[in-house]
Amino acid sequence: MEKHPHALRLCALICITFSSFLHLVEAQDQKGFISLDCGSPPNEPPYNGVHTGLTYSTDDGFVQTGKTGKIQRELEPVLGKPFWTLRYFPDGNRNCYTLNVTQGTTYLIRARFVYGNYDGLNEYPSFDLYLGPNLWENIDLSALGTNGTFEEIIHKPVSKSLQVCLVKRGTSIPLISTLEIRPLQNNNTYNTQSGSLRYSRRRYFSTASGSVRYQPSCPFDSIKFMVTKF
Ligand SMILES: *[C@@H]1O[C@H](CO)[C@@H](O)[C@H](O)[C@H]1NC(C)=O
Ligand SMILES: *[C@@H]1O[C@H](CO)[C@@H](O)[C@H](O)[C@H]1NC(C)=O
Ligand SMILES: *[C@@H]1O[C@H](CO)[C@@H](O)[C@H](O)[C@H]1NC(C)=O
Repeated sequence: MEKHPHALRLCALICITFSSFLHLVEAQDQKGFISLDCGSPPNEPPYNGVHTGLTYSTDDGFVQTGKTGKIQRELEPVLGKPFWTLRYFPDGNRNCYTLNVTQGTTYLIRARFVYGNYDGLNEYPSFDLYLGPNLWENIDLSALGTNGTFEEIIHKPVSKSLQVCLVKRGTSIPLISTLEIRPLQNNNTYNTQSGSLRYSRRRYFSTASGSVRYQPSCPFDSIKFMVTKF
C-alpha cells in the first residue's frame, strides 16, 4: 500500500466526486444532466438506460443537421439501446450540437461513437471532434481497428451555450452515438490553472485485482488520470 500513496490520495479525491455523482443517479435526480441518444426518432419518448438508470432522450432539437442511421442488428445485444442509433453528417464540413449550460459550472462531457457498419461499407471512419473552437480529439476508428470509442473532457463553459462539433478530415463521414453532459457537484475537484481536462485513463481496482487492496471507504475504488487540454 505504501507504494501507492498518490493512488490513494487520488482515489479519495475521485471517490468524493463519484459518490456524490452516484447518489444523484440513485435519487433519480438528474438535474442539469443531458443524455442524448443520437439519431433516435424525434417522437421517441425519453427512456431509462438499463444499467445506469440515466434518462436518455432524442438528440432532435439539439442539432439541426445530419442523418440518422442504425448499427447492424448483430451488435445490438452486445451494446445498450443508446448505441443502436447514430447520427452521421455526410453534408458540410462542420456540424455542431448546441447544449444549454450554466456558465461557470464545471461539466463532465462525454461523447461516444459506434460505427457498427451502419452504412454497410465496412469502413471505419476518422474525423475530428471539437469543443467550441478548440480541437478536442481526433476520432480514428480506422487506426483503432474498432467499432467504437469514446471521449470525455472536464470543462467549464465560458458562455451559456456549448457547442460540440464533428468536423471532416477528408472524405470520411463523421458520426456520433451518444452525447452526455453532467454538471459536477463539487467545484473543488478537478480545478486547474491550465484549462480543461481530457480523459486519459480510468482505473478500477477491485478486490480481485490482487495488487491493490480494496478500500471500504472508497466503494468505487477508481482512479482517473487526466491530462490537460486547451
Ligand atoms: C436553450 O436556451 C434557449 C434560450 O436561452 C431556448 O430558446 C432553447 O429552447 C433552449 N434549448 C433547449 C434544448 O433547451
Ligand atoms: C464491427 O461490427 C461489424 C458489424 O457487426 C462486425 O462485422 C465487425 O466484426 C466488428 N468489428 C470488430 C473489430 O469487432
Ligand atoms: C466553489 O463554490 C463556492 C460556493 O459557491 C465558491 O465560494 C467558490 O469560490 C467556488 N470555487 C471555485 C474554484 O469555483
